[in-house]
Amino acid sequence: MSKNIALITGVTGQDGSYLSEFLLAKGYEVHGIIRRSSVDYRERIAHLEGTPNFHLHYADMGDSMSLVKLVGKVQPTEIYNLAAQSHVQVSFDAPEFTADVDAVGVLRILEAVRTNHLEKACKIYQASTSELYGKVEEVPQNENTPFHPYSPYAVAKLYGFWIIKEYREAYNMFCCSGILFNHESERRGETFVTRKITLAAARIAQGKQDCLYLGNLDSLRDWGYAKDYVECMWLILQHETPEDFVIATGVQHTVREFASLAFHYAGIELRWEGQGIDEKGIVASVSNPSLSHLIGKTVVAVSEAFYRPTDVVNLWGDPTKAKNKLGWNPQTTSFEQLVQIMVNHDMQKVAADHVASVMRTNLAEYLEKGIVK
Ligand code: NAP
Ligand code: GDD
Repeated sequence: MSKNIALITGVTGQDGSYLSEFLLAKGYEVHGIIRRSSVDYRERIAHLEGTPNFHLHYADMGDSMSLVKLVGKVQPTEIYNLAAQSHVQVSFDAPEFTADVDAVGVLRILEAVRTNHLEKACKIYQASTSELYGKVEEVPQNENTPFHPYSPYAVAKLYGFWIIKEYREAYNMFCCSGILFNHESERRGETFVTRKITLAAARIAQGKQDCLYLGNLDSLRDWGYAKDYVECMWLILQHETPEDFVIATGVQHTVREFASLAFHYAGIELRWEGQGIDEKGIVASVSNPSLSHLIGKTVVAVSEAFYRPTDVVNLWGDPTKAKNKLGWNPQTTSFEQLVQIMVNHDMQKVAADHVASVMRTNLAEYLEKGIVK
């Protein structure tokens, strides 16, 4: 039997790390693309480095030559194209870079496969996004809902979606898009709203932060657990025909609801007062007497700095096709479980960071006083 060889772009990201674990457990040989940076910071995959079937290679989505050479060397049977400048707000500040990586980068991967004559041997998964629905034209959104991208990120991803479809039809390649709705985890980047909230709730509960500043609290998202979603990426490539799928939980919540629940799991009950820019989350009660000094304090406030020039405010996915055709269960992890997993993780992280910082301060003092040499 021929070996399954996966090439993952974006292997250091949230999804790349979970997908690597998933594919390694299935016996795949996994190759990941990393890019050079001044600090080698690969926290999410550090535990996988040294695993016999796990290999990392330097390349960049902006560098065709590196991609062509790597695809030729690895001879993948499946490519998961997850690499992207994935932050919507950042795409307003760096639109050209976002277009290069998120749009033309997809074309570079497709051409790398063609240049190496692997069109028939290699399947390609493209990380498409619910941001394509943008200024939504219907709720909930399914595979037939019209797209209306509403940020430079979404416009770049729209090119990625269409070029995948074009190569499927023009060259008969097995390439597909997973239109994934927001998926989060304890490995989520710290500037996405969910992780920003769970980290802040943990810090506020442990006296390390006074207030959390957010943008649009009314924004609605369909949030799932990233660990559950990587299974779908694989299922999409195992389906008999190349097709695009919406991957979502089918349940919607506001940013405000996410914040209330995260603070709840950190031992703090919030009440909300005011509207728009003046809205505040105030501590109504606490589960532990050691937090009683927080009662009546404002711990969440709104800042215009986190408003976007155009914001996508009503994402709600219909995962019926994935459920029926791929046999995927969209509710493996509930919204409540997801928030609890993230808060529990961040409560421990904040406590551990505190211990490490005390130890560093003590060590510096001991060195200065000559107590340790
Ligand atoms: P993420 O944590 O931001 O990871 C992005 C990955 O892309 C990182 O490994 C990053 O490498 C890599 N990357 C960025 N620019 C690159 C370049 N020029 N060359 C090579 N690698 C580059 O994103 P994620 O949440 O895992 O999402 C994975 C993919 O799914 C992305 O394409 C995202 O747009 C899409 N998506 C995500 C969601 C979601 O809710 N998470 C939903 C729909 C679609 P560094 O570590 O070096 O920065
Ligand atoms: N980041 C952030 N920070 N977002 C905030 C904040 C804040 O302080 N306050 C409110 N929001 C709102 C945003 O305006 C947006 O409506 C919503 O929270 C979610 O923002 P993000 O968590 O940054 O995610 P996103 O939905 O814009 O993008 C993520 O999901 C997409 C799929 O729908 C990213 O992972 C994209 O890569 C992905 O395609």
